[in-house]
Amino acid sequence: MKILLIGSGAREHALAQSLAADPITTELHASPGNPGIAKIATCHPLDINNPLSVATLARTLEVDLVVIGPEGPLVTGAADAVRGVGIACFGPSEAAAQLEGSKTFAKTVMADAGVLTARAFTCTEQSEIEAALDKFGAPYVVKDDGLAAGKGVVVTEDREIALAHALSCEKVVIEEYLSGPEISLFGISDGKTVIAMQPAQDFKRAFDSDSGPNTGGMGAYSPLYWAPDGIVEQTLKEVLNPTIQEMAARNTPFIGLLYAGLALTDNGIRVIEFNARFGDPETQVLLPRLKTPLAQLLFAAATGKLADFPTLEWDEKVAVGVVLASEGYPEEPIIDREITGVEKALHKDARLFIAGAREENGSLKSSGGRVLTCTGLGSDLTEARDHAYLALSKILLEGSHHRKDIALNASIAEKGE
Ligand code: AMP
Ligand code: GLY
Repeated sequence: MKILLIGSGAREHALAQSLAADPITTELHASPGNPGIAKIATCHPLDINNPLSVATLARTLEVDLVVIGPEGPLVTGAADAVRGVGIACFGPSEAAAQLEGSKTFAKTVMADAGVLTARAFTCTEQSEIEAALDKFGAPYVVKDDGLAAGKGVVVTEDREIALAHALSCEKVVIEEYLSGPEISLFGISDGKTVIAMQPAQDFKRAFDSDSGPNTGGMGAYSPLYWAPDGIVEQTLKEVLNPTIQEMAARNTPFIGLLYAGLALTDNGIRVIEFNARFGDPETQVLLPRLKTPLAQLLFAAATGKLADFPTLEWDEKVAVGVVLASEGYPEEPIIDREITGVEKALHKDARLFIAGAREENGSLKSSGGRVLTCTGLGSDLTEARDHAYLALSKILLEGSHHRKDIALNASIAEKGE
């Protein structure tokens, strides 16, 4: 099978590795790709936010499957264009990707599907904003309605900061604060049937002890030994299946990955957010543990054949992923600095996934906020953490920062069990 993968992040690097490892894959292409992906796929420069370009490349390469990684091309209709030229595509249509593209749309779908989420108001005027802030009280949760690369959400005790963020958004969602541990659960959907992956946890704040601003994600681990029994089945029943059925009933079937960010509150599961694609960095800790061949899974989803697909198989090892970020990320990342030590970081139980980096005259240079993810595998979280942090310690990038506490509390609690 010939496959074209769209994207250039660490998530796509992880997808590329798993797609390349599936024996059914005969050719792997990527666009635009990155220096890590280029080692296992043929990369093609392209404006991936132009749906026609994506479809044309897929047709020229005569691929059997297109896998779209990031939300940008999804919300601009790349999947529609690819299906329009008769090629199977793993990724939702422009209409279905609105589950991620508009928080207000996601709330409407959830209301119609009977899926529980935080109560919310969508506001445009200052008077509405202030009324909504005062209705829910602190901590305030203020979300830009549109796409913001994980940085559009402010959660704060400070009403002035909440109000200032709300006023900086064209359209804003103000919602009730949900308290409880957060998990990310991914459902692979063919439009009718959903297969859930194992849960993961993401660390969204920039700095240790969950301080600093929200980011695209600074680290993750999986599986979650502490998650309540039956959480996956319950999420399928209460969240993923009803949402997929609702999208089908609206004639906008969701074919691709439905990412549910959940809060496990005292009153039950509540959806914090939906994304219409694999999460980053959760993918970098899930895929190294997935034994099921990924290309076969995504092709089955893209062609409506998940009902007969075998149960997913997982490695027993646990995985911890730590993101290395450029100086100044998330506010103003400083880029174009040399990265060294990547080769030294690789060992049997460590994986390295490149994101914001490019190659220049044989050396690696930073080109984005989140530069790479190091994933460590181990028999428990302590060992997986050691492998991830050992790998990361070999990599040098001036001014870079990373969180030192990814999966730390969970690893301490695990030892005490
Ligand atoms: P989102 O981009 O919607 O996932 O929001 C980013 C982060 O903000 C989430 O992972 C949560 O940690 C936090 N957050 C978002 N919505 C809420 C909420 N209603 N209650 C508490 N925390 C929230
Ligand atoms: N890990 C959060 C995201 O992918 O948006």
